[in-house]
Amino acid sequence: MNYETILCEIEDGIGTITLNRPKVLNAINDELLKEMSEALDIFAENQNVKVVILTGGDKVFAAGADIVFMSEASSLEAESFVRLCHETIDKITNLDKPVIAAIAGLALGGGCELTLSCDIRIAAEGTNIGLPEINLGLYPGGGGTQRLTRLVGTGWAKQLLMTGKPIDAKSALNIGLVTKVVPAQELMKEAKGLALELARKSTIAMRLMKSCIDYGENVDLPSGCLFEQKVWALLLSTDDAHEGMKAFLEKRKPDFRGR
Ligand code: CAA
Repeated sequence: MNYETILCEIEDGIGTITLNRPKVLNAINDELLKEMSEALDIFAENQNVKVVILTGGDKVFAAGADIVFMSEASSLEAESFVRLCHETIDKITNLDKPVIAAIAGLALGGGCELTLSCDIRIAAEGTNIGLPEINLGLYPGGGGTQRLTRLVGTGWAKQLLMTGKPIDAKSALNIGLVTKVVPAQELMKEAKGLALELARKSTIAMRLMKSCIDYGENVDLPSGCLFEQKVWALLLSTDDAHEGMKAFLEKRKPDFRGR
């Protein structure tokens, strides 16, 4: 898995994608999105990958979409770019494995939007997160106006989107934009520890639960609850569900096989 703009590795059941355009603070361009999309397809197919970590490493997550490209793009190029943004971001959302964003330094604009599609976001102390597009005469085109609002509510979303001012990790924690803040040097250890914890759970229950949460977010409550009931009934007949309950009754740790 050799790429120009990302690093990609699989270890201990964890697939990690690290954005890798350090000279431009991991600014997101066409090539990066295509490579990330390909890596996500590989992780989706590979049954050994149980959990995915998306990170920019310990210095910067991403300073947003590539402004050099955008400043020169025609409408048609912009359309193609923003479609690719959405396709890639949707791939993260639709991946049937948990995706953890490990965020250090900066997650701005499209960088923040990438993290919004992840299931769990943890940040290093000192990280700034925001959507400053308004200061460029733009607004976020990678789902930010929609996903941020759903995640933190309209009030905070409008505060962040309308002022364009990033907030620090502690404030991000307070509004639920991230769920944990750790010292910078512990970020990857924390992300990997969490990923290993999730990797030990039943992959089937994890996958079906993720689909219930994500489906439910886009439909009314009765429809979401009905979906949950039907999927839950299906889940109960799996080997993993039998094993989990049997292990509890036998007072031992479950041995989940993903069946
Ligand atoms: N696109 C392209 N290049 C970028 C970039 C971006 N988003 N962000 C930073 N860079 C480049 C800089 O131009 C600079 O390159 P040179 O060394 O060739 O001059 C290099 O990265 C280092 O950046 P700075 O010198 O600016 O570093 P700094 O530490 O002084 O400032 C910063 C850091 C505050 C993040 C500043 O770079 C910045 O404001 N960047 C832009 C942030 C932004 O507006 N992001 C939103 C982009 S729009 C978007 O994402 C649209 C969408 O929704 C799809």
